[in-house]
Amino acid sequence: MTKNKKLIQWVNDVAALCEPEYIYWCSGTDEEFKEMAELLVKKGAFIKLNKEKRPNSYYAVSDPTDVARVEDKTFICSEREEDAGPTNNWVDPKDMKNTLNGLFKGSMHGRAMYVIPFSMGPIGSKIGQIGVELTDSPYVVCNMKIMTRMGPEVLAQLGEDDDFVQCLHSVGHPLGDNHQDIAWPCNRTKYIVHFPEERSIWSYGSGYGGNALLGKKCFALRIASAMARDEGWLAEHMLIVGITSPEGVKKYIAAAFPSACGKTNLAMLSSALPGWKVECVGDDIAWMKYGEDGRLYAINPENGFFGVAPGTSMKTNPNAMLSMTKNTIFTNVAMTDDRDVWWEGMTDEKPAHVLDWLRRDWNPSLHRAAAHPNARFTAPAKQCPVIDPNWEDPAGVPISAILFGGRRGHVIPLVHQSLSWNHGVFIGSMISSETTAAAAGTLGQLRHDPFAMLPFCGYNMGDYFKHWIDFGKKTSADKLPKVFYVNWFRKGEDGKFMWPGYGDNIRVIKWIFERLDGKENYVENGLGLVPAAGSIDTTGLDIPQDTMQKLFTLSKEDGMLEVDEMRKYYALFGDHLPEELNDELLALEARLAK
Ligand code: GTP
Ligand code: SPV
Ligand code: MN
Repeated sequence: MTKNKKLIQWVNDVAALCEPEYIYWCSGTDEEFKEMAELLVKKGAFIKLNKEKRPNSYYAVSDPTDVARVEDKTFICSEREEDAGPTNNWVDPKDMKNTLNGLFKGSMHGRAMYVIPFSMGPIGSKIGQIGVELTDSPYVVCNMKIMTRMGPEVLAQLGEDDDFVQCLHSVGHPLGDNHQDIAWPCNRTKYIVHFPEERSIWSYGSGYGGNALLGKKCFALRIASAMARDEGWLAEHMLIVGITSPEGVKKYIAAAFPSACGKTNLAMLSSALPGWKVECVGDDIAWMKYGEDGRLYAINPENGFFGVAPGTSMKTNPNAMLSMTKNTIFTNVAMTDDRDVWWEGMTDEKPAHVLDWLRRDWNPSLHRAAAHPNARFTAPAKQCPVIDPNWEDPAGVPISAILFGGRRGHVIPLVHQSLSWNHGVFIGSMISSETTAAAAGTLGQLRHDPFAMLPFCGYNMGDYFKHWIDFGKKTSADKLPKVFYVNWFRKGEDGKFMWPGYGDNIRVIKWIFERLDGKENYVENGLGLVPAAGSIDTTGLDIPQDTMQKLFTLSKEDGMLEVDEMRKYYALFGDHLPEELNDELLALEARLAK
């Protein structure tokens, strides 16, 4: 299977601990996917969807208690508590290992232990990384096959002594002697644990999404952010898109929005303005390094999309809809009578009858959602009709702009540009957003989510800010991406979104594009540079001038409240907060006071 000594040793050690029935080395082939999916059908965990409507696609529903990331059960177990910082849960690694060894002891009884060698990033890319996930969940194997590049080619890359990230996962549901299984095994007790120094992950008790597909948030963000700190690069919760203007000029943009705040939608946007083209490199994670020319280059470490289903339609995101027409896994959506899928927002007219995500009969007269709000599709990236021709370029794509954003019903304007790199880092640190169904917990609560990395930063967030400040010093200012803050979610007095969003977001991107070319299309508003009156192209859009104005209104009072809130938040980080950010806060206060 492999010559890698560390891998052989680790597989043996884990097998001795978890006591699986047998060990299975995954090949990552299409045939294996089909076999594994058929196994899941037999167990009642998958339903094969109508092959005329969704060839090679499957439907799963989870245990109702296992539907999203569990942030309060997520730990960064660095040697020193200070290195996890004030925004992460921390337990001493030795104590945590004791707990985990107890939980994992015999946890795979009666099950296979699957060995999944995977590459984050195109195999062989200098920016890419290799991981191996050991899991007792065939559902995870099927999803990892779509989300990562998996199989023996990866093992071939791994020499005898090469390092890789150890990703151990168990659903925590060992089988008794009669081997009776249930459709969605999991455990009430959940632990999603990261050992950044060791570059290892132990995940117990959940089979869902980022808790279980360990290449994604656990590796590509939490562990990778710690690697990036040590090695001088960036691992970010960002989409990557290529934008081509009607003149044929192409620029790449990366954008960080918190979970369920519009990355997948912007990543494959279908332009409302004629002549503008958007192509997708990635929809969730970006790994970025400086190239030899001093510019920042980004790769998408993933191979698929694990996208939010509700709200996705041929109107809002046709390219996502077209990405999931085949070879797709749907989890916690509703199933129609002809064995296809449905969710809230997919069609104008609701179907007369579906089975909801709890396998109950549902019809539109019932005032409850048929799909779970965090229902998701797992689809191969290469099926996206607007996948960028360079999306697998091992060298990455050059980034001209970085966008930060969040879900803010009030205060934050539709778009503003930072005044400098450091000010850009400041606005990244300033992101607050209303909580969504992507994580277990209360919905719609405003919370700080700096760089959209609050749940994903694998080390002290204050040191992370510092890493971003220092990163900007490594090249000349003209080569650094320009930084913007967008907010598609501002609401009017009627409680409705003021901005149409989705395909119309290209209008904001157009303004950003012009800014990158140095066009004088802005005014200052204290926060930064905002569009001059009339400089956002609203051709063909029925939006009152008054609303356009309100999208940018910032009262002195609201601005000062933001400053006060930031000051309180920054105090959390003590002497880990870079001085530069304090200076930016004071400068903002002074601009607003004018
Ligand atoms: P994660 O996969 O959790 O990281 O989420 P994401 O950032 O990729 O969010 P996604 O694009 O899936 O959007 C989440 C929800 O926001 C969906 O229900 C979308 O329909 C909705 N949404 C996305 N873009 C817009 C927009 O421009 N305006 C409005 N009003 N809603 C949007
Ligand atoms: C997110 O929550 O930001 C996601 C979904 O992209 S998950 O993979 O579950 O983390
Ligand atoms: Mn995400």
